[in-house]
Amino acid sequence: MNSSSPILLFDSGVGGLTVLAELRKLMPDAPVIYAADMAGLPYGAKSEAEVAARVAGLLGRMAERYNPRLICIACNTASTIALGMVREVLETPIVGTVPAIKPAAALTKTGTIGLLGTEATVRQRYVDDLEREFAQGKKLLRYGANGLVALGEAKLRGEEVSVDDVAKAAAGLVLQAGGENLDTVVLACTHFPLLEPELREAFGKDVSFVHGAEGIAKRIAHLLEGQKFPFWSKSFAVTTGGLEDFRRLSGAFENHGIMKLKRF
Ligand code: DGL
Repeated sequence: MNSSSPILLFDSGVGGLTVLAELRKLMPDAPVIYAADMAGLPYGAKSEAEVAARVAGLLGRMAERYNPRLICIACNTASTIALGMVREVLETPIVGTVPAIKPAAALTKTGTIGLLGTEATVRQRYVDDLEREFAQGKKLLRYGANGLVALGEAKLRGEEVSVDDVAKAAAGLVLQAGGENLDTVVLACTHFPLLEPELREAFGKDVSFVHGAEGIAKRIAHLLEGQKFPFWSKSFAVTTGGLEDFRRLSGAFENHGIMKLKRF
């Protein structure tokens, strides 16, 4: 690492911008390379082996090319599947994004928590472990809402998303046995907070949402405390997919201080 080393923020798409938004509040000037594996999106419909191979392979190549001081896997699907493996092979400090079951368990009054993630995330053993460790005595209902990922992407491209579009995901939790007691929902995919206003309407005012973006940003800021960033270092975003398509998201990146989009 040298003094111009950036922070690498990795997601399958634009979900990681929900983490970047929180990071900017704490570290407004830090150079960030936002890496979107658009060629691999969506991860939530892939097998564990596919996600692990993609994430480990890409992060290895990105670490070599960009020499980041820290990597944040701003994706629950990638983190719950591959965090351990990536940490084993890379020397760079890695911050993962895992479902915020612990704060949700502290917040619920009814004892019934919903977990809204991708299909791949909600079936992970990592989630079973979090449930066992932090949600003892609570009821955790899980629903894999892959459809919300494309809706989050569409919204950031400027397309209209309505409450009807997200209603199926809400029903997927509320209509389960005991779902009528739900008062806290974990948004366990970094794309989902992009749809929080629509989800809020779909779930109704008695349900609170919890996600990890703020906590992840704090963790990154803590790990990098005291480190200097040169003023000339610039942030940019890279995609593994087509650049033309990526540029349709340029407004969303500009809102987070990222003016330059490139192909990885
Ligand atoms: N943003 C990713 C997550 O947090 C998932 C998106 C995808 O399915 O690729 O799980």
